[in-house]
Amino acid sequence: MAGLAVNVDHIATLREARKINYPDPVTAAALVELAGAEGVVVHLREDRRHIKDRDVKILRQTVKTKLILEMAATPEMLGIALEVKPDLVTLVPEKRKELTTEGGLNLSLNMDIISEGVETLKSAHIPVSLFVDPDAEQIRIAHKINADMVEIHTGGFCDADTPQKRTKAFLNIVNAAKLAKKLKLGVNAGHGLCYNTIKAFKGIQEIDEYSIGHSIISRAVLVGLDKAVREMLALVKEL
Ligand code: PXP
Repeated sequence: MAGLAVNVDHIATLREARKINYPDPVTAAALVELAGAEGVVVHLREDRRHIKDRDVKILRQTVKTKLILEMAATPEMLGIALEVKPDLVTLVPEKRKELTTEGGLNLSLNMDIISEGVETLKSAHIPVSLFVDPDAEQIRIAHKINADMVEIHTGGFCDADTPQKRTKAFLNIVNAAKLAKKLKLGVNAGHGLCYNTIKAFKGIQEIDEYSIGHSIISRAVLVGLDKAVREMLALVKEL
């Protein structure tokens, strides 16, 4: 049975919209765990646009399941990971201007930097996953440079705008997952998955865990809105 790790970045996005101290991703992480998720994911970006260093440090103390840190393989981030010691680091490409991670790592182009990052983390006993597109070459390089796992980018499948592109993108994911499993890599998958697209993965045994954020946080806002309005309404009516 596959696991679910929930990305709470967008709780922090909401907090940063006002630059105050709520909603707190630390509180959200506790609720995510109470609901049964097998892990909590945060992406500490170079520009700290949502998750902050403080969040990662406190989450390390409070998360009881598994703390997964997404980050770029930069000296600064590697230093933070060595200090915090998350349960898993997922190395991702990062561009300052992007709204969200746009694609998987290009391991053929950045093999030296990524493989140095993998080595640094693994020598501190931190398991490493590499976020890659569903592409055989990328999976083979991930194996070659000693990653423990790959996270297969599902964005191409989720964003496909025709049934043909969707089918092809899904097949690429399944083939990439099969190859990774054959090479004895752990296999996670994520990006863009929602309450509809996740259904396509029924019966796919090769994927160990799904990493999902935006759709869950978006839904939480809507399913929680009724209660939130009623609570404030009750207070207003008492004035
Ligand atoms: N996996 C990786 C590597 C990501 O960068 C993200 C987005 O932060 C996710 C999974 C989750 O994507 P989404 O928020 O679209 O569910």
